[in-house]
Amino acid sequence: MPFDLALLRSQFPDRHIEWHAAVGSTMTIASRLAASGAASGTVIGAEEQTAGQGRHGRTWHSEPGSGLYFSVILRHQFTPSTLPVVTLALGLAVIGAILEATDLTCDLRWPNDVLIPSKKSEGKCAGILTQLEGSAIIAGIGINVNHSQFPVELSGIATSLRLVSGRAHSRERLLLELLPSIDHYCALLERDGPEPILKLYSRASSYVTGRRVCVDTTLVGTTAGLSDSGFLILRGDDGHDNLIVAGGVRPCS
Ligand code: BTN
Repeated sequence: MPFDLALLRSQFPDRHIEWHAAVGSTMTIASRLAASGAASGTVIGAEEQTAGQGRHGRTWHSEPGSGLYFSVILRHQFTPSTLPVVTLALGLAVIGAILEATDLTCDLRWPNDVLIPSKKSEGKCAGILTQLEGSAIIAGIGINVNHSQFPVELSGIATSLRLVSGRAHSRERLLLELLPSIDHYCALLERDGPEPILKLYSRASSYVTGRRVCVDTTLVGTTAGLSDSGFLILRGDDGHDNLIVAGGVRPCS
């Protein structure tokens, strides 16, 4: 079904919302708009991305019409060092919106993976990318909503809300929940600092404490909480703590 942009605009009359049929990446357009002074809350979405960006230079599979692919410009009183916590705050916003709109409970895998546990395993249903453009933060969010299949290279890794629940979901409903949810967690971070976000994230994520994980296949250990800056603490088998500031965290035995 085509995206109902008129509905979105009617619910958020004060926001600039663009929705494109096909773009390379919504990140590129949002960065350009932010550089030319676009307001906080500006949303750039697309039905399809031909060069969707993921973390670490990966591409984000953006099947036409099936997912939510958008970037939002955030202008808050955050210092650049707060960026890792902003990513965690956005994760909380995404899982809160998914729960409200679909009744599905998601897990968070530090720093930016949104997972849905299913009977067999867990699959990634959403990802978050944050980058700076001058003093603005560009938050890119991709949610696999109604995909019924994935390319073979993503099988066993990606899933969609539809695949897990067995029914289609409204992308508009999800975005109607998500935009205020983003505002809520960013306002909380701006007002009270990182502590409440770190606490909420630690509560929502099964990965923050006591999980045996590998980081980029080089480091192995057990997760031991988050640092004050939002980095993951990994306790090695020698008892030594490593601070993970980037990298892909995966379960391992
Ligand atoms: C990740 O998990 O690696 C992050 C994925 C972020 C994907 C979204 S889709 C909308 C926005 N535009 C992009 O090109 N990337 C982000």
